[in-house]
Amino acid sequence: MKKHQILFGLAALLLLVLVMAGCGAKTEQAVSFRADIPAGTLAAEEFGKFYPKQYDGYKKMAEMTNEGTKHGGSEETDKLTQWPFLKEIFAGYGFAKEYNEDRGHVYTLDDVKKIKRINEKSISACWTCKSANVPGIVKEMGDAYYNTNFHELKSKMTEPITCANCHDPKTMNLVITQPPLRNALQRLGKDPDKLTRQELRTYVCAQCHVEYYFAGENKVVTFPWDKGFTPDDVLDYFEEMNFKDWDHPKAGVGEIKVQHPEFETFQGSVHQAAGLACADCHMPYKMEGGEKISSHWVTSPLKHIKESCMTCHREDPEWLKERVLYTQDKTAEMMGRVGNVNVEAIEAIAVAAQANGNPAVLDEARKLQRKAQFYIDWVGAENSMGFHNPQLIMETLNKSLDLANQAKLKAIEAQTGMAAPTWQPPATAENAAPASTEPAKKS
Ligand code: HEC
Ligand code: HEC
Ligand code: HEC
Ligand code: HEC
Repeated sequence: MKKHQILFGLAALLLLVLVMAGCGAKTEQAVSFRADIPAGTLAAEEFGKFYPKQYDGYKKMAEMTNEGTKHGGSEETDKLTQWPFLKEIFAGYGFAKEYNEDRGHVYTLDDVKKIKRINEKSISACWTCKSANVPGIVKEMGDAYYNTNFHELKSKMTEPITCANCHDPKTMNLVITQPPLRNALQRLGKDPDKLTRQELRTYVCAQCHVEYYFAGENKVVTFPWDKGFTPDDVLDYFEEMNFKDWDHPKAGVGEIKVQHPEFETFQGSVHQAAGLACADCHMPYKMEGGEKISSHWVTSPLKHIKESCMTCHREDPEWLKERVLYTQDKTAEMMGRVGNVNVEAIEAIAVAAQANGNPAVLDEARKLQRKAQFYIDWVGAENSMGFHNPQLIMETLNKSLDLANQAKLKAIEAQTGMAAPTWQPPATAENAAPASTEPAKKS
């Protein structure tokens, strides 16, 4: 990238930030008129009567196409066929039955109703990110909602994700409606009703595009953010509470299932550090009939690089797309390889257990496998194939690979009694912290 292009980009960014700051931090938005839609309105068509341009964009999410994308797109492709290792690491759990590429927001109800992961025992927590009806129902039922049988509340879930998931109908201001995010922010000491406008342009998405688990008796949907947002922080959180989603029949250990951590992965990336929000790329501004609106066709930005990226980048859109695919292809290749090593670790443990291997060493192998699996699952469950934060995703893949190899070696040790050599730099005052790249001096 040429220097003047970067400067131009940064100037554009600064301008954007200034424009946003000038718009008034919290509440004011570019609504051309305020329709005062009654509180409690949920149906997108009702909002559409007053905001037809945004409604047209929203309806475009029904279009199913992968055009312009390679690793994303809106078609419901089967991830288990594409990535055979997933079926092995999720053995014994619903995700080994059916696991699909995500599609547009208008399909959430259809998709959750038909997925094979839902059975007669499923709970209502599974509706949480799928319907505009949920916040109202949680208000009525309290935490009892989450553990109520899924099928019992089916008739109440009349809407998919609609305008009401992100907007206050009266003012059309952005609001955090989902209880799990409100609770998580409060635990972090952040008031969900006092977020800045630019924060809201990310946090409305963080209502759902995040890792979560079901906590306690009531199975309350909870975000594991108390130690931070990185994969290490989230794993620490789960390790400390000894959390598991299910027992892997072959690995013989409780595993954690990671879910779409887009928000967490984005933290620390070049774009997050530059002040971008999810909406900057996924809901870019565009001119329509002389009016500046936000695109409500929430999909892969590769379908509209001009609107999403050219506000800052001055390169050719095709060049920029090549850069995205470069990151994504490299991530996909490594994800496949690391996934296979994870399966080998599971196999090695199963073989060692079959051969009545040393139980204490097997236990060590299982603990390592559980961690390795958490890291590879994080990368597989994140939906940008590395783009949201290439460095963090490569680090996460590397950690998974290291741990999976260690697990494999421990399993072999459990079976054969032969420990693989390990090496630690000698702990001296100088090199105790980060390992030195200098060859160690002979004493
Ligand atoms: C700098 C631009 C940018 C920002 C900011 C950004 N994304 Fe993305 N996002 C992308 C790109 C590029 C892809 C890859 C699309 C593809 O593979 O076709 C993507 C992919 C996705 C996908 C998968 C789309 C698909 O087609 O399956 C989701 C979901 C997503 N992003 C959510 C988010 C969320 C939530 C945030 C904020 C936390 C965010 N993104 C921030 C550019 C961005
Ligand atoms: C109430 C929960 C919820 C909110 C809020 C939400 N999403 Fe989603 N999003 C989902 C779910 C669930 C899916 C998958 C739907 C399916 O496959 O049926 C999805 C799918 C997507 C996709 C894939 C679309 C495609 O064409 O493949 C993108 C991109 C996306 N969301 C981005 C965002 C962004 C950006 C925001 C914030 C502006 C956001 N979402 C807010 C729940 C949510
Ligand atoms: C996933 C969250 C989300 C959903 C769902 C959503 N919006 Fe928005 N909407 C946004 C964001 C983000 C903005 C940009 C706000 C800003 O920049 O202050 C926005 C802006 C707007 C604006 C202000 C003008 C503009 O275009 O920037 C209107 C009006 C609007 N939306 C209407 C709707 C309608 C109508 C629907 C349903 C058909 C809807 N929205 C669904 C997130 C959402
Ligand atoms: C609001 C400004 C802004 C927008 C919008 C934006 N970017 Fe960037 N982007 C930056 C800045 C700033 C950098 C870091 C400095 C640089 O490389 O110019 C960057 C860096 C990058 C890089 C190199 C770093 C890396 O992580 O690989 C790529 C690739 C990139 N952006 C792609 C995109 C794509 C694709 C889009 C649209 C989907 C997009 N950007 C939208 C500001 C933006």
